[in-house]
Amino acid sequence: MEVRAMKKSLLTTLRDKHTSIHQFRQATEKISFLLAGEAGDYIKEKIISVETPLEEGEGKLLNEDIVIIPILRAGLAMLPAFLRFYPDASVGFFGMRRDEETKLPHLYYQNIPPLSPDHNVIIIDPMIATGGSGALALEKVLSKNVPDSNIVYVGIIGAPEGIEKIKQTAPNINLVVAQVDERLNQDAFIIPGIGDFGDRYFGTE
Ligand code: PRP
Ligand code: URA
Repeated sequence: MEVRAMKKSLLTTLRDKHTSIHQFRQATEKISFLLAGEAGDYIKEKIISVETPLEEGEGKLLNEDIVIIPILRAGLAMLPAFLRFYPDASVGFFGMRRDEETKLPHLYYQNIPPLSPDHNVIIIDPMIATGGSGALALEKVLSKNVPDSNIVYVGIIGAPEGIEKIKQTAPNINLVVAQVDERLNQDAFIIPGIGDFGDRYFGTE
């Protein structure tokens, strides 16, 4: 199966309200691994010389200074797959919760390793709805002098409004999502979407 078809099939499993928690977690792991690979397209490379058994040639390695930042809680669901793909990466955390009335993100926890302009930062959060949580996370990372071209923002599903907000906050950012959905509903949930990702993944519905 092609990667694109595989992502569509995994998305269908995630969307289906009859999917069990076990299947939901497995589909999250698989789609996150595919998205981790796509994020690699935007990680800086360094050129090295490599000795093959026959001669010396040119090789390329991914930047070693990768920091993965999941936005809690739901971003945690994508972390194991990203660490399988980038086993040497450091990990930082933003804990955020959307206020149910205002839909604005409340930052309740932050633990980010020291960042420099040479770092590649991968922010992971499966749902980009209004984009408020993502924009707040980006503002925090940009304030540490990481250029937006060194940031990859990875979601599973985005609403057009949220994607727009992310791009306005960081115009040169690299954005990876498996699917852009139709719209937000009056409760700022993505339609057709997945529902409450954190609740479905962690079993807290
Ligand atoms: C969800 C989701 C995103 C955020 C997206 O988190 O995981 O972080 O909403 O919405 P936004 O784009 O409108 O900001 P939620 O606040 O439900 O917390 P949780 O991850 O702990 O479930
Ligand atoms: N958070 C979710 O988990 N789902 C949505 O549709 C919107 C925000």
